[in-house]
Amino acid sequence: MTSVTFRSHDGSTVQVNGELGVSLMQTALSNGIDGIVGECGGSAMCATCHVYVDEAFVNLLPPMNDVENEMLECTVSTRRASSRLSCQIRLSRELEGLVVELPETQA
Ligand code: FES
Repeated sequence: MTSVTFRSHDGSTVQVNGELGVSLMQTALSNGIDGIVGECGGSAMCATCHVYVDEAFVNLLPPMNDVENEMLECTVSTRRASSRLSCQIRLSRELEGLVVELPETQA
């Protein structure tokens, strides 16, 4: 298991334990986290799973591919340097304690 903290735009936080190898988007959905929609089911085709990754973890993530990079241009909330699609992030031991911020809106 990997501990993940989701921080809403209003500052409230929810901490959950996610299974190794499962996507951050799926972890959010199975824990009822508001603010992650995951409309396309994780195929990097909708951008409704957009998150801002805490600075301390940005460099621990694998680099994004072209598809993710292009889809991040379609987010409803402003893209930042720390923006990622949570469906493209797989939980791993290295990400223990991961903190992500949820955008104000996904749609
Ligand atoms: Fe659609 Fe991530 S769930 S892009």
